[in-house]
Amino acid sequence: MLKRIKGIFSSDLAIDLGTANILVLVKGEGIVINEPSVVAVQIDKFGQEHVLAVGSEAKKMIGKTHRNIKAIRPMRDGVIADFHITELMIKHFIQKVHKRKKFYSPRIIICVPYGLTQVERKAVRESAQNAGARYVYLIEEPMAAAIGADLPVHDPRGSLVVDIGGGTTEIGVISLSGLVISTSLRTAGDKIDGQIVDYINKKFNLLIGDRVAEELKINIGTAIDLKEELKMIIKGRDKVEGSLKSIEVSSKDMKIAMQDPLEEILEALKLILEQTPPDLAGDIVENGVVLTGGGALIRGLDKYLSDAIKLPVYVAENPLLAVALGTGKALDDIDMWQQLAYED
Ligand SMILES: Nc1ncnc2c1ncn2[C@@H]1O[C@H](COP(=O)(O)OP(=O)(O)OP(=O)(O)O)[C@@H](O)[C@H]1O
Ligand SMILES: [Mg+2]
Repeated sequence: MLKRIKGIFSSDLAIDLGTANILVLVKGEGIVINEPSVVAVQIDKFGQEHVLAVGSEAKKMIGKTHRNIKAIRPMRDGVIADFHITELMIKHFIQKVHKRKKFYSPRIIICVPYGLTQVERKAVRESAQNAGARYVYLIEEPMAAAIGADLPVHDPRGSLVVDIGGGTTEIGVISLSGLVISTSLRTAGDKIDGQIVDYINKKFNLLIGDRVAEELKINIGTAIDLKEELKMIIKGRDKVEGSLKSIEVSSKDMKIAMQDPLEEILEALKLILEQTPPDLAGDIVENGVVLTGGGALIRGLDKYLSDAIKLPVYVAENPLLAVALGTGKALDDIDMWQQLAYED
């Protein structure tokens, strides 16, 4: 009874707990938070950590901190690297939404990276419970991505989604509201940035940080040869002389730098296609493959994949929002998803 009364006063939340970005959607309102999954902590003289900033504020501090301040991405590479900080981050965002509006023990659906271990999932669930959630459901990322990309997930038809995030790429074939086959690889945006750092280091003897590498990827990165070459000037430290210098990088360089991780994603996709049951494979041949996640925005990635697998490949309408929107839609049908969501 009490739970039912609480339910009347609560606005339920959907959270996309991404390794690069965290999005929170309030039922009936839409996305209210969209910030980087970064926490800046200060370490006091007793070695205790205090949160200085969370989200966009904290991201600005990456690579620019001194020894008493650390900007942490607690969920780097698709695993929870720092449980305590992850918990603080989840609580921070839930409480931030609480402040905007009076909430009373909301129900929360959280989309977590598919590859999380049982222990990690339990930690996420408990963090949300400690922040005041009445019920917490977890949803798998390929499923949320497919719902968000408006694929017919409830039909007896195969849909194939590839979600390329920061830490993980998740590939799933969905039919009748369930994942028929799926895989998760730790090759996604972050790894691509790392490859760019290495490439610039080797080719130009220039040391750059992850943030510059990400800017290169977004501004001039490409999976295919472009008709018109793109260029960008970057600054970094000369590896040999130690001095600061500027160089010009081209989209041709980027294509080479990004090649290996993109090939890994392609190979994983091919494997999933090989393992897909024939009837569902027929549907995919007809409907194609849908890309979601920030990585879907890599120039020419749809064409690169489509040429290789000889199937149509589409980019979802809002690739960076698809998972949050899908988790939000699951919130609308919470009673049905309650039975499908796993509780562990
Ligand atoms: N225009 C763009 N071109 C290429 N990459 C992009 C672009 N915009 C964002 N990205 C990359 O997308 C990634 C973030 O995507 P997204 O927000 O979907 O990840 P996430 O959901 O937080 O991560 P995960 O799903 O792995 O937990 C980052 O690596 C970012 O650099
Ligand atoms: Mg994601």
